[in-house]
Amino acid sequence: MKNRACISINARCNLTCNYCHFGKKVNTLNWREFEMSKEDIKLILSNVSTYIKDNNVKEFKIGLVGSGEPLLSFGAIQEAVLFAANDNQKIKLYTITNGTTLNKKQIKFFHKFKDIIDLNFSLDGPKDIHEVVRKNYNKTFKNIIEYERLFGHKPTINSVVTRLTIKEQERVVNYFLENGFKNVNFSIVFGDYIEGVSITNEEYYNFLKYCKEKGLNMRQMVNTKKYDCTKYGNLCAVGRNNIYITKKGVFPCGRFQNLNKYLIGQFDSPLKEIELIMKKFLNPNPSKCYYEMLQENNKL
Ligand SMILES: C[S@@+](CC[C@H](N)C(=O)[O-])C[C@H]1O[C@@H](n2cnc3c(N)ncnc32)[C@H](O)[C@@H]1O
Ligand code: SF4
Repeated sequence: MKNRACISINARCNLTCNYCHFGKKVNTLNWREFEMSKEDIKLILSNVSTYIKDNNVKEFKIGLVGSGEPLLSFGAIQEAVLFAANDNQKIKLYTITNGTTLNKKQIKFFHKFKDIIDLNFSLDGPKDIHEVVRKNYNKTFKNIIEYERLFGHKPTINSVVTRLTIKEQERVVNYFLENGFKNVNFSIVFGDYIEGVSITNEEYYNFLKYCKEKGLNMRQMVNTKKYDCTKYGNLCAVGRNNIYITKKGVFPCGRFQNLNKYLIGQFDSPLKEIELIMKKFLNPNPSKCYYEMLQENNKL
């Protein structure tokens, strides 16, 4: 049964981080085709709501993230939040932001609906490390402080683990601990948009072990052995409980975006139909990333 989805709300960004496809200007020209309107979001959420009722789902988690900066589509986020708030309270949302365009009014909105949506920030460590792969540390940090002022605690952080993180692991982890970031969700860097940042799965898992010993709270510790994504150190959910919804169609996960062979529905298809097709792509070995397995065997 499905209980997770990621909606790629847009495909545009105000930054060009080095390790992201925006750094290399890949897939950035046709961004208009990926833009979700408020009406699109409402359609998707009402399909989710029908699925929840038909299948008696306790909680359905939706990430409003995808391949761009979600807060550039703040109107669509508001629509999703208001829909979820007025529905049966079973849809829980989260989004991840680079934190550079956020304003006080928007932070207030997230605070008002904090039981419906969780606002996470991307931060890869101290300024010098963050800015090797990302941009504009100062703006992000300033808005994290604004968040803390209103919420009374630091937000959850999304942090990408690269070769530099491993090399500087003590400094990175101490930075999070000393600055009071208790919840940090790490993910392994993927793609080859920038040279010299890739690490092995083994290096990544050793790093996670180190963080655990140091006392950081991570998505991977909470959800161990859960179907989610190997990039977070959990099991691969492809073909099981997760889907990736873009304006141009639904895919088994974000890495399959634009591979029409793996299209499992249209963005407004009922989830019941998507679920049937999705079973064709059941990962037989969920401890490994399905996309990477197919890639290694030249089957993509
Ligand atoms: C694609 S971004 C979209 C959200 C927003 N623009 C941001 O940067 O937070 C979602 C997450 O993916 C991470 N990310 C970007 N490029 C990545 C890569 N090559 N490998 C792994 N994660 C990456 C970002 O750091 C961010 O935490
Ligand atoms: S802010 Fe996010 S989407 Fe934008 S370039 Fe950086 S990682 Fe990519």
